[in-house]
Amino acid sequence: MSRQFEGRTVFITGAGGGIGRAAALAFAQEGAKVAATDYNGEWAEETARLITEAGGEAYGARLDVTDRAAVDAAVDAVVERWGRLDCAFNNAGVTREDTRSPWGDPEAYAATFAVNCDGVMYCIAAEARHMAKAKRGAIVNTSSIAGMSGSGGAAYCGSKHAVIGFTQSAALRFASDNVRVNAVCPGAITTPMTDAVNQDPRAAAFVAQMHPLGRMGEAREVADAVLFLCSDKASFITGHPLAVDGGFLAR
Ligand SMILES: NC(=O)c1ccc[n+]([C@@H]2O[C@H](COP(=O)([O-])OP(=O)(O)OC[C@H]3O[C@@H](n4cnc5c(N)ncnc54)[C@H](O)[C@@H]3O)[C@@H](O)[C@H]2O)c1
Repeated sequence: MSRQFEGRTVFITGAGGGIGRAAALAFAQEGAKVAATDYNGEWAEETARLITEAGGEAYGARLDVTDRAAVDAAVDAVVERWGRLDCAFNNAGVTREDTRSPWGDPEAYAATFAVNCDGVMYCIAAEARHMAKAKRGAIVNTSSIAGMSGSGGAAYCGSKHAVIGFTQSAALRFASDNVRVNAVCPGAITTPMTDAVNQDPRAAAFVAQMHPLGRMGEAREVADAVLFLCSDKASFITGHPLAVDGGFLAR
């Protein structure tokens, strides 16, 4: 049976764990060559190792998405190595607030926007440059339910709203180049980011019941949505923020 990303390449940020690693493994299972990048280079290399050990093709590299020149070089490297860039998953993100943080804390704002906004914008710009030339490509950015509601800390919420803005702006700009740009908006997902919640049974139960399906999501469930949006089955979908949230936003 042919695999849907056979012969295609994908560039992923934040691929050292959680949703990014799940997506990297899922793309590889479907035949894609995977460039797995992360701020933590060892985690990125571990993701690549998991892929190559399973018979896929991948490499891992350190990348800080707040460094525009490094982003440009990392995206160029995919094209230099494999001759094409078909898909990109701009997924690196941080949360720097908790319930005790003051609303609008300037340090949290700067740190969060640097990764969640500057990083996503730099990545889209670098990727779309290649894709527009090839007249083909699909980009997915990780927003959040916090990007479609007022949930989360102020900086996180604002940053994830901005990701949807970048997604829709880029979707319009690059549509005539046959480049599609979409976003996923996960609900609470079991990953290292939600470790603190998962380690506290009362908090975990509280968060689970906020989702009508009665549980937190799994990283693989977000990865499946990302693959769909990057696939030919989504060929007429662009500029769309897709909730993967167990019904959270429907309440
Ligand atoms: N887990 C959730 O409940 C949830 C819900 C909604 C949205 N999200 C979003 O999903 C994305 C992935 O998060 P996750 O849950 O897998 O958590 P995670 O912490 O496992 O993954 C985030 C990854 O981003 C990397 N990263 C952080 N700063 C970076 C930088 N400057 N440059 C490059 N990489 C950097 C981290 O090293 C980490 O591997 C994030 O954008 C997050 O905001 C997560």
